[in-house]
Amino acid sequence: MTIQEAEKMLKSCGQEHVLKFYGKLKKPEQEALLAQIAKIEPKNVKYCQAALKAGTAAVDNSKGTAPKVAVLKGKALKEAVAAGEAELKAGRVAALLVAGGQGSRLGFEGPKGCYPIGPITNAPLFYFHARKILARGNRYGKPIPFYVMTSEANTAATVECFEKNNYFGLDPKDVFFFTQGMWPGMTAEGKIILDQPGHVFMSPDGHGGLLAALKKSGALKDMKKRGIKSVFFFQVDNPLVEIADPAFIGYHVNMKSEYSLKLCAKRDPFEKVGMPMKFGAQYRMVEYTEMTKEQCTRKAKDGKLYFLYGSPAIHVFDRAFLEREAGRPMPLHLAFKKIPVVDEKGKVVKPAEPNGYKFEKFIFDILPNAKTAAFLAFDQKDEFSPVKNAEGGDSPATCKADMQEKWAKALAEAGVLVRKDVAIEIDPAYALDAAGIKETGLCLGAE
Ligand code: UD1
Repeated sequence: MTIQEAEKMLKSCGQEHVLKFYGKLKKPEQEALLAQIAKIEPKNVKYCQAALKAGTAAVDNSKGTAPKVAVLKGKALKEAVAAGEAELKAGRVAALLVAGGQGSRLGFEGPKGCYPIGPITNAPLFYFHARKILARGNRYGKPIPFYVMTSEANTAATVECFEKNNYFGLDPKDVFFFTQGMWPGMTAEGKIILDQPGHVFMSPDGHGGLLAALKKSGALKDMKKRGIKSVFFFQVDNPLVEIADPAFIGYHVNMKSEYSLKLCAKRDPFEKVGMPMKFGAQYRMVEYTEMTKEQCTRKAKDGKLYFLYGSPAIHVFDRAFLEREAGRPMPLHLAFKKIPVVDEKGKVVKPAEPNGYKFEKFIFDILPNAKTAAFLAFDQKDEFSPVKNAEGGDSPATCKADMQEKWAKALAEAGVLVRKDVAIEIDPAYALDAAGIKETGLCLGAE
């Protein structure tokens, strides 16, 4: 982009101030600023300004009701598993990981997927995800293509982690990295923020940026070319997730659903998970921050919580639905933050109070657009133990304990006795589950 082009573009959306210090910058700084400006689309600037104008007015969720959630058992479970296995054998299933977020709450530098979580080996989160995908593909005789969304801040380190580890055994042809977009931060008046004289403050566009990035990167086309029908979505911080679980895939396919969600009973009424609610004929995800105390604690006739099932962000999407949605604008969520800013003289000032907005899109905002949606319950202990905080709940300590408990359960199911005081870690590609442990023919002696 030339300086003239940048001037014209910025003028078209009232952001001329972005070039205020351009004349004082060194050549490489000028080039870097122009490269940044080239990534800003005027229509997105206007979109952010409109979101600022609309403000963060609370949406009325008071009329929301709890969705019907299926609990599969016996024949229904067998049917779902059979349907899911047929999809996997036909190679119609892909895995989609959002890994663009920063592990700031965890206090970890680098991509969160590189966080060492293996209780014995310290293997990273990515290892467990990739090895499960490998195992599932091997079991059904068809590779499961793995689409990994990163952000500008962690793309290089993520790719390096996969390369260093030989893609954890996956064929690199079946791993597709793509990078989410960045949006400029703005003042309340809708002015783009310079955090250095030659640098615009920009932040990742949220996991909802997935749709635009899937389209732009060619990942959606790649899925279509490979004949993918169901796309299994998961988050990087949960090594317990049963990726491409046949029961969930099968339930999704049998229900002819466009967007299916796995849900688990909340551990306590105020657990920090999103809550899908029904509004008329539509469903919408209500964040825990938007629920009233009454909604969190409301009881059903059976004495259980009325809004019992929360979302651990494990979804299956119909690929055609993703394609349809990728062409539509998504709502923006505003986060009011302390953003460094340059003053009139070009000096960087760190604000003591929030002074600017970041904009994010959330993938679950496409739920109301799904013509059909399905909800499937599962046991939290089996599939959800995220690593979010450095200590306390949802921390590496609780996650490692839950991983070991799950492996101990699988070993017991396979008839292997395990001493309670030994550390356990199983490579998912060696044995994915109890059935996999039985297949190894291994019988560990134990007390
Ligand atoms: C999220 C969900 C919440 C759900 C919970 C389950 C939101 C707003 N809330 O909360 O409903 O119950 O997970 O664990 O999502 N990511 C990107 N790019 C971004 C931002 C995030 O790829 O720009 C990825 C992260 O790498 C991560 C996932 O999205 O894999 C979730 O992000 P995170 O910020 O950890 O979400 P939570 O607030 O914990």
